[in-house]
Amino acid sequence: MNKRVYIETYGCQMNEHDSERMLRLLEGSYYLETRDPQEADLILINTCSVREKPENKVYSALGRYKRLKEERGAVIGVAGCVAQQEGPRLLDRVPYLDMVIGTHAISTLPDLLEKIEAKGGRFCKTEFDEKGNYLKSILPPGSHPKVKSFVTIMQGCDHYCSYCIVPFVRGREKSRPSAEILEEIRCLAERGIKEVCLLGQNVNGYGRGLEGEIGFSELLCRINEIEGIERIRFTTSHPKDLSDALIKAFSDLSKLCEHIHLPFQSGSDRILEKMHRGYSTLSYLERIERLRARCPEMAITADVIVGFPGEEEKDFNQTLDLIKKVQFDDLFSFKYSTRRGTGAAQLDDQVEEKIKQERLEILQGIQREVTLQKNVAYEGRTEEVLVEGCSKQSDQDITGRTRTNKSVNFKGDLQLVGKVVPVRITKGFAHSLRGERLLNAS
Ligand code: 5AD
Ligand code: SF4
Repeated sequence: MNKRVYIETYGCQMNEHDSERMLRLLEGSYYLETRDPQEADLILINTCSVREKPENKVYSALGRYKRLKEERGAVIGVAGCVAQQEGPRLLDRVPYLDMVIGTHAISTLPDLLEKIEAKGGRFCKTEFDEKGNYLKSILPPGSHPKVKSFVTIMQGCDHYCSYCIVPFVRGREKSRPSAEILEEIRCLAERGIKEVCLLGQNVNGYGRGLEGEIGFSELLCRINEIEGIERIRFTTSHPKDLSDALIKAFSDLSKLCEHIHLPFQSGSDRILEKMHRGYSTLSYLERIERLRARCPEMAITADVIVGFPGEEEKDFNQTLDLIKKVQFDDLFSFKYSTRRGTGAAQLDDQVEEKIKQERLEILQGIQREVTLQKNVAYEGRTEEVLVEGCSKQSDQDITGRTRTNKSVNFKGDLQLVGKVVPVRITKGFAHSLRGERLLNAS
C-alpha cells in the first residue's frame, strides 16, 4: 500500500528542486505526496539557510509535528542547508527526530527510510560527497505533468562572498558532466517538458574543475539543439564570470530566453570590496550595457543587500543610483543578516535594524515604480507566451510567461497548456500582465 509524504519547503529554487528530487526518489519507495501533514507517514522539512533565521523555523515546525509522531508514528526528517549546518545538534535537541539529511545526502533517503522502518534508529548524514553523486539526475517516472523543469548543472560555490553561507552548506563548486545533463534534458523533452531552467549557484562558472569539459555557453548551444525543448533559462549568474560568449549566446541561440538574473548586491565599490564580490559598479554597468547592446529587449533582474556592515548613507545612495541607472525589471532586495561562520559575521560595524528596514523600504519604493513602468511598456505589444496552466485569479483564465519571464493572464482553454501562443498585452500591472490571445496569428 502507498504511504504518504508531506514536504515543507522554505527558501530558494535550489531547495524547491531538492524537494522535487526527494519526491521522485520516494515514488520509487511507494510514497505519494500529500498536502496535509495530518495524513502523512513521513514528514520532511527542507530549509534553506541563506537568509532569515531558518533554524528557528525548523525548530518551530518540528514542534508542530511532535503530536503526529506520538499519535501516528510518522517518520520525521530535516533536510537542506539547515540540516547540513546543524547536523547532530538537531538530533540532540529534538528526541523524536528520526533523520537529518545534508545537502549532499538526498539520494540516501530511500535507504535510510528502509532502515528506520525495519529496525528503527536515528541517522545524521552530513558528509560532503567529493564524487558528486548528489548531482546525478533523478527523473520523474513516465510522462511529466508539467511544462517546465529545473535541471541542476552545478552546485556549490567557491566565491566565498563575505556575507554568504552557501559555500559552507552546499560545499565547493562542482559541475555535472555535460553528457549527463544533455541526456537528462533529452529525457525530459521526451516526457513533454518544453522549458528547462538550468540551476546552479553560479551557472556561468560551469565546467570549471572538470577536465576536458565544455564551458557554459557551449552547453547552452548543445541544449539549443535538443528537439522538443522550446525555451532555455538559467539562474544564477555571477557578474564576474559573465563572458562575452554568453552575452553573444543571447542573440545567437533561438531558444535562450531574453532574461538574465545578475545579482549586484551593492552599488558602492567600498562595500563590494568588503563583500569580496570581485567587480566594481563600473564593470557591472559595462556588462549591462553589453547585454543590452546585443539584445535590447533583455529583461534584467538582480539581488541586492541593504545594511551590510559598515554601509553608510552615501553607500546606500550609490546603490539607489545604480538602480535608477539600470532600470531593472525586478529586484529581490534583502536586509543583511548575519550568518554564523561567514567573514562578515566578524565585522563589528553592524548596521542597526531600524536603518536596514528604512533603507529596504526606500529601495523597494523606487523599484516598485520602475517595475510597474516596465510592465506598462508592454501594453500593445504581442508576446510569445508559453502556457503553463490555469490562472490563480480566475478559472476562466490561463497563465503563462513571456520569453522575458513576465507572467501573463488571458482567456483561454487548458488545451493550450504546453503551447507557445501569441498574446497581445492589454495591461501591465505591478506583478503581471493581462492579454488577449491573437487567434488569427499562426
Ligand atoms: N544576508 C542577506 N542577504 C543575503 N543573501 C545571501 N546571503 C545573505 C545574507 N547573509 C542574498 C544575496 C544572494 C541571495 C540569494 O540572497 O543577495 O544573491
Ligand atoms: Fe554566495 Fe557569493 Fe557564492 Fe553567490 S557567489 S552563492 S552570494 S558565495
